Amino acid sequence: MCGIVGSVGLKDPKEYVTKGLKMLDYRGYDSAGIAYFNDEIKIFKDVGSVEHLMSIVPSNINTNIMIGHTRWATHGAPTKLNTHPHISYNKHICLVHNGVIDNYKELKKFLIEQNYSFYGETDSEVVANLIEYYYLLNRDIKETIKTVKLLIKGSYAITFFIDSDVDTLYILKKASPLVVGKGKGFNLVASDASPMINYTNEFIELEDGEFGYLNKNEIVIFNKDGEPIKKETIHKDIELISHDLKGYPHYMLKEIEEIPQTVNRLINTYFQDDQYQFDEELIKDLKESDHILFIGCGTSYHAGLVGGRYFEKYDKSTSRFIASEWAFHPTYPGNKPFIIMISQSGETADLIHCLRIIKEHNLKNLVITNTGGSTLDRNCDYSLLLHSGVEVSVASTKAYAAQVALLAMLSASLANDKSVINDLRQAINVINDIQDSYKPKIMKVANELMSKKNIFYLGRSFDYFLSLEASLKLKEISYIHSEAIPGGELKHGPIALVEQDLPVIVFITDPDTAPSMRGNIEEVKSRGAKVYVVSTKSLSAPEDTIVVKDYAYYLSSVAISSIAFYLAYYVSLAKGLNVDKPRNLAKSVTVE
Ligand code: G6P
Repeated sequence: MCGIVGSVGLKDPKEYVTKGLKMLDYRGYDSAGIAYFNDEIKIFKDVGSVEHLMSIVPSNINTNIMIGHTRWATHGAPTKLNTHPHISYNKHICLVHNGVIDNYKELKKFLIEQNYSFYGETDSEVVANLIEYYYLLNRDIKETIKTVKLLIKGSYAITFFIDSDVDTLYILKKASPLVVGKGKGFNLVASDASPMINYTNEFIELEDGEFGYLNKNEIVIFNKDGEPIKKETIHKDIELISHDLKGYPHYMLKEIEEIPQTVNRLINTYFQDDQYQFDEELIKDLKESDHILFIGCGTSYHAGLVGGRYFEKYDKSTSRFIASEWAFHPTYPGNKPFIIMISQSGETADLIHCLRIIKEHNLKNLVITNTGGSTLDRNCDYSLLLHSGVEVSVASTKAYAAQVALLAMLSASLANDKSVINDLRQAINVINDIQDSYKPKIMKVANELMSKKNIFYLGRSFDYFLSLEASLKLKEISYIHSEAIPGGELKHGPIALVEQDLPVIVFITDPDTAPSMRGNIEEVKSRGAKVYVVSTKSLSAPEDTIVVKDYAYYLSSVAISSIAFYLAYYVSLAKGLNVDKPRNLAKSVTVE
């Protein structure tokens, strides 16, 4: 969600900035732009893709400094005027910003009183003008940044330059990521390290409140009070984000098909020589805790719902929260709670907000993430990586299966219960079967669903958790309204919506709840619904749509989530939609 790239001193900054923006496109964006200095500040920007931006940027650019940005609209529509970089009213400051300035309206009012006017509607343009206003008053950029930092409320990663000193990039950060790359004769900045990896493997990660500047020879960072600090240089050889589709038409399909190898890799990483390989301190802290709280957003929250049940099986009391809810009502029972945060990207702003609260309360915490080096990976007490490989498609698939599989192993390790490993291996076989033999059936259902306006998913217990994820996936990429309903709740309201031909997709994999689910099917069928049942062999009925072989039912979110993912994928495909980049969504949501 918004990407920043900047360079100073680089010979071919256009190559770095435009390719860098492309590498950040996983964050989601609707418009893109670059700015540089050559006699004057020059800005090229437009709504649309980085490829489109490249077509409007001049081929030969002679400049020492360049910033670039991909914008995901929050304040102000995705228009050319709202696209970054922004130039201040008197054209002295050129700035890109990722985050949200909560109090921009009052700051804008103040600036209008000082005779400022604005080209667009963004909160970011307000910051560019605020910097200019104070800089013109005191001509001291460090003091200006300190003042502006005190005035702006919200989240920001900001990079800017001044027309009077075009050899220097200024940076400031709070709650949105910003990383500096150390070069030889040049220095770089970006939202994460990926755009910089062809130029350096030495990085400096800015912490909240810190600010500084870089020119071609030095990087100077100040703490929040403005005192210079020596920052640790991190040496990282980061895996290049693979934009290789390996013959697949879409990343989502490729990533669904990587689920078996992902789960297998997790087993090989966290279970070796017949032993779980988790950090002993982590296991001790988990065992000693009297309550485990799971926090996540979207798909990762759904993984937490399943994970909570796993820990309860090993006598732990648990609760599960959506991060943006918990952040504003941070309760936890017990005296020794342990927090498990789940995040594919490790950068989700709502979770980072929670982490601040968790740290204020001195609560032990773990993040389960796919992204080593991310904000959550760096700042949580413990971090367990999913090792799923980069997930490019906005709709999360392999990371979800991996999160659930890892939570199954972690919970089982508390009791040294090794049966989970065999159960996971059995689940991998089921996923492989689905991949090999079930896609035509799923495609057929997708073709029937593509013209529908509403779809219900029904399940109980683990099947309900899977229904939630299946429904989210479908709405994310097919734009069809769908609801996941616990079978038992049907009669308490949702049944009023059941009418002729309403598609109802039912998961039946849990022996305890299967008979009740069959009852639910009769309830919706008798009201005209068109029912599609996904079941396991021992619980199946002859008319079921998809029957897979039996597996340990608590692993449904691993074993058969791919059915739900394929279904969403094929519906989106049949509707001719942008499967990997659905409208309005971003892979990494770095604003609250
Ligand atoms: C965004 C994505 C979702 C994802 C959620 C949480 O909304 O579009 O697919 O589940 O963020 O992301 P995280 O990286 O924290 O798992």
